[in-house]
Amino acid sequence: MTTITEIAPDIFRINTFIPEGNLGFSQFLVRDEEPLLFHTGMRALFPLVREAVASLIDPAKLRWIGFSHFEADECGSLNEWQAIAPQATAVCSMVGKMVSVDDFSHVNPAKGMIDGEEFSTGSHTFRFISTPHVPHNWEAGLLFETTSGVLFASDVLHQNGDVPALTSDSVIDRVRQSMLEMQASPLADYLPYTPKTEATLKRVAGLKPRTIASMHGSIYSGDGERAILEYAEVLKEVFGPQD
Ligand SMILES: [Fe+2]
Ligand SMILES: [Fe+2]
Repeated sequence: MTTITEIAPDIFRINTFIPEGNLGFSQFLVRDEEPLLFHTGMRALFPLVREAVASLIDPAKLRWIGFSHFEADECGSLNEWQAIAPQATAVCSMVGKMVSVDDFSHVNPAKGMIDGEEFSTGSHTFRFISTPHVPHNWEAGLLFETTSGVLFASDVLHQNGDVPALTSDSVIDRVRQSMLEMQASPLADYLPYTPKTEATLKRVAGLKPRTIASMHGSIYSGDGERAILEYAEVLKEVFGPQD
């Protein structure tokens, strides 16, 4: 079932839980003069996501499609979206644009962003944070909505399970448990822990997000700086050098 939750003014979480994988997938619609969808979801989810978006805006008016990195759950239905919204333009890292997205996307060249670059959709302003290999993949980046303090966090704070849409309770225990479950599965080594991981996450924590809009699991509202620093510790513990 696909559910819609408004997580900040005119920012909506569209979530589909897939029981076979014990995992939810969220896309985020920002309803604005130039509507933005962050994550498209996989192609298989496209009919559900389109229907959910259509309950909030005219899908043909979608202007921006943002995502962290090049992966099916991040941008798998980019082409399907551009078929129904021809002006919809991918917004991703410059690396993502140059290496994969402009080859994959059939309609419009992507807007390639560099670290710290900002753009506006009308009443929302977004800052792009370049985060190579965080959560994973060379081209990874995150978007921070500067007015409401929402961090579009991709796989950061990933939680398995059919969990509440929103919470102000710490999710870090659930994150640790989920990463341990991944390590014990065919999906082991989901995230890299590199010599730069801690510094990258400290920089993200420094944004002091008030809401962390993760793709998988509950949206955390509260002390986002602390949540990201705790997340860095969990990554070190689970994926860092083992004695
Ligand atoms: Fe990912
Ligand atoms: Fe993901």
